[in-house]
Amino acid sequence: MKISEFKTAGKLITGPGAINALADEVNRLKMTSLAIITDKGVSQAGLFEQLLAKLPIEPSIVIDDIPPEPEVNVIEEKVRLLKKSKVNGVVALGGGSAIDAAKVLAATYDYSGSISDLFGENLIKERNIPLIVLPTTAGTGSEVTNIAILSDPIEQVKKGIVSHCLLPDVAIVAPEMTLSCPKAITAASGVDAFVHALEAFISVNASPITDALAEKAMTLIFNALPHAYRNGENLVAREQMATGSLMAGLAFGNAGVGAVHALAYPLGGRFHLSHGMSNAVMLPHVLRANAPFCSDKLFSVALLLKVCPPDTRKEKAIATLLDAVDKLCIDVGIPRTLREFDIPEQVIPQLAEDASKVTRLLRNNPKQLTVEDIENIYRNAY
Ligand SMILES: NC(=O)c1ccc[n+]([C@@H]2O[C@H](COP(=O)([O-])OP(=O)(O)OC[C@H]3O[C@@H](n4cnc5c(N)ncnc54)[C@H](O)[C@@H]3O)[C@@H](O)[C@H]2O)c1
Ligand SMILES: [Fe+2]
Repeated sequence: MKISEFKTAGKLITGPGAINALADEVNRLKMTSLAIITDKGVSQAGLFEQLLAKLPIEPSIVIDDIPPEPEVNVIEEKVRLLKKSKVNGVVALGGGSAIDAAKVLAATYDYSGSISDLFGENLIKERNIPLIVLPTTAGTGSEVTNIAILSDPIEQVKKGIVSHCLLPDVAIVAPEMTLSCPKAITAASGVDAFVHALEAFISVNASPITDALAEKAMTLIFNALPHAYRNGENLVAREQMATGSLMAGLAFGNAGVGAVHALAYPLGGRFHLSHGMSNAVMLPHVLRANAPFCSDKLFSVALLLKVCPPDTRKEKAIATLLDAVDKLCIDVGIPRTLREFDIPEQVIPQLAEDASKVTRLLRNNPKQLTVEDIENIYRNAY
């Protein structure tokens, strides 16, 4: 038996109407001067107004222009802005981009160095102000992870800051906050959540606890995503997606993700494909390379998701699972090849070089991939 550690946000409040708990949590955490971190799309959808109506105090500062997949220099600028106002609490409202930004802003409020120096593991040592997060996508699971991902425009890759100081004090996961999520974002962030669960399940660091969370997350997301995509107003499907993505976040926040994410990072960094899109396009190709190295687990996923009859042979069941995952992506309108994103074929060796440096994630992968393996996977995805 391996020893494993389980980390999550301090408190999870979930379900329709969970936002009503916000005022009590703000008071409990003695937040008397608040910063709200959100983005334009979320505000335009009316969610910021809904949040304001639930707050017990007026915010001291509102930063409402976090861009999608934020670059590190944008966060540096927001850190300077935030430091000018005396706050003792941060509330984030948005998808992974706004939540990741808020996690870094709260944790660097008393830090005077450069944010770029914090990429890597455990370089942030303390956070002195409390943080409440409310996801509006389903989703990144960022509400329960110790990671924030930012784009590095110089090296043109996405990089992670990992620290226990990034774990929020409270995550309020209210599915109605995702009802306004546009179709393309529902699809991309939904497939991202599925990848979190699947990669956590086959991770070399999986534990019985993360497996249980990943299994339930895969079932919820696999069944609910097409419904949430086709009819965004379907609150039952939205709730299943919100719970599924939260459980996937709990699974991967502890077991880690693997090569799908490692190979997706350079697509975001160099070609600005969204995180969810880049994961979705790489998913079936990385799974094919991984399959011989995690066949028992993939077989159990095939049976769990009922993609084939229970007496199907292992190889056939895995092949059917790969087709079903591909079909899920097609059903939610995600392009299946890198070519469709106008990525030139000659950059593949560079992409492979970039991805091979994401060792923080590659080391979780069931198959240890060489640069040549990675290049072949990109060629299969082209
Ligand atoms: N920290 C983690 O654990 C973790 C995990 C996975 C991904 N990420 C990061 O999260 C980011 C992606 O986050 P995302 O997929 O949630 O998307 P996002 O936060 O980038 O949002 C995408 C767009 O959707 C809009 N939007 C979000 N919710 C909406 C709603 N309910 N109604 C209307 N519009 C809405 C936003 O305004 C934005 O324009 C990436 O930077 C990725 O790297 C972080
Ligand atoms: Fe992800």
